[in-house]
Amino acid sequence: MTEKDRFQRERERLNQLVMKYANKETKRFFSLDRQTYEKGALDEKTKEFAGLVASLVLRCDDCIFYHLIRCREAGATSDEIIEILNIGLIVGGSIVIPHLRRALARWGELVEVPGSYESQLQRARDILTTASDFSKATQKLCNELRQRNPLFDWVGFYWINPDNARELNLGAYSGEPTEHVTIPVGKGICGQAAERKETFVIQDVRLEENYLSCNPAVLSEIVIPIFSKGEVIGELDIDSHTEAAFTDEHREFLEEVVKIIETRL
Ligand code: SME
Repeated sequence: MTEKDRFQRERERLNQLVMKYANKETKRFFSLDRQTYEKGALDEKTKEFAGLVASLVLRCDDCIFYHLIRCREAGATSDEIIEILNIGLIVGGSIVIPHLRRALARWGELVEVPGSYESQLQRARDILTTASDFSKATQKLCNELRQRNPLFDWVGFYWINPDNARELNLGAYSGEPTEHVTIPVGKGICGQAAERKETFVIQDVRLEENYLSCNPAVLSEIVIPIFSKGEVIGELDIDSHTEAAFTDEHREFLEEVVKIIETRL
C-alpha cells in the first residue's frame, strides 16, 4: 500500500468516526469545507493551491498532504507546486522548512510512481468502456496519462475535421491551453504525422523547421496517429519540458493506448 492509500484510508476512517458523533453544526462545517473547494469563479486547482499554501504556513502536515493529493488530481505540475510552496515559505519563514521538506517528499511519491504500463493500459480500457461518452473518456485519458507519467507535460487529442480532411481540430487535452486549436495537415509535427500516417518522436523540437510551438518550455514531443479503416482520423499528441523524454518504451506503450482507442471508435 502506498503512503497515499494509507493516508486516505485513515482519513476516511476518522471522518466516519467524526460523523458518528457529529451534530448539525459539525456536519455543516464539514459540508462548508467541501463546498469551499468546489469550482466557482476560481477553478479547483487554484483553490487547492490556496489550501496548500495556507496549510504550509499553519504547519499542518496532514492538511499539506491532503492538498498535495488534491493538487495532483487537479493536474498540478511539479513546477507549479514548488512555486506555491515558495509562497508559503516566504510568508511563514524558516519555521516551515521541516514541513516543506516533508511536503516535497510526499509530492515526489505522488508523481514518481507512475504505475506499470500494464496497469495504465488496463485503466485506459476501463475508462473507454465505462465513461458515459467518448469525449469524457478521452478527457479522462488525457488527465490520467499526464498525472501518471511525470515527463508528460501536455497530453491531448487532435481529430480530423469531418468536413475538411485536411484539417486537425483540438479535442480533449490536459495541460496549458494552446493557441493551435486548428492545424492544417502537413503543418507542424501533428500535421506531418497525419500526412505521413506514422508516429513522430521529436527528441529536440528546437531543431525542427516544421514545428508549431505551443509553449516555449516544450523540448520534446511524440505524436501517434489514430486510424479507422486505414485512414488517419486523429492523433494523440504529448509534449514534454524534458529533452528526449520519449523512449522506445514510451512509444510502444502509447501506441498500445491508441490501439485501445481504435477498438472503441
Ligand atoms: N507542437 C505541435 C502543435 C501542437 S502543440 O504541441 C499542443 C506541432 O508542431 O504540430
